[in-house]
Amino acid sequence: MGFKVAIANDHGGFALKRWLIENYQDRTVEWVDLGTESEESVDYPDFAHKLADYLKDHPDHYGIAICGTGIGISMALNRHNHIRAAVCTNSTMARLTRIDNDANVLCFGARVIGEQVVRDCLSVFLTTDFETGGRHERRVNKINTKEG
Ligand code: RB5
Repeated sequence: MGFKVAIANDHGGFALKRWLIENYQDRTVEWVDLGTESEESVDYPDFAHKLADYLKDHPDHYGIAICGTGIGISMALNRHNHIRAAVCTNSTMARLTRIDNDANVLCFGARVIGEQVVRDCLSVFLTTDFETGGRHERRVNKINTKEG
């Protein structure tokens, strides 16, 4: 089975994004790179919204988002109702955010994580299924029920 993965980043995440695309060895991944394409300063919400818009049109894709900490870009992503973005710093978090939260975007902080950890997180994230039909599905369904 192949995985389609759209990736977006700000300037702080550019080097890690480039490393990940070049070094992730799993040939089943098809990358869609939404930028930014240099270390020139940009605003992370612009790339978060670009990724969210792309995923709205391509619900069969996962998303990866990278900024300096992973925090700002995840905040902007999670303003979209179809996005469940999770900042992960280890593979246990990456596994559980799929099982428990049905996360569809994995966020990294390039200034606070190592490359090998990122690769492990991605492998686990892509190959772990959401646990449907029980308490996790009930809870995820409640995430978007609060207005205002
Ligand atoms: C950019 O300097 C930095 O603020 C951004 O990459 C991110 O860490 C924000 O949350």
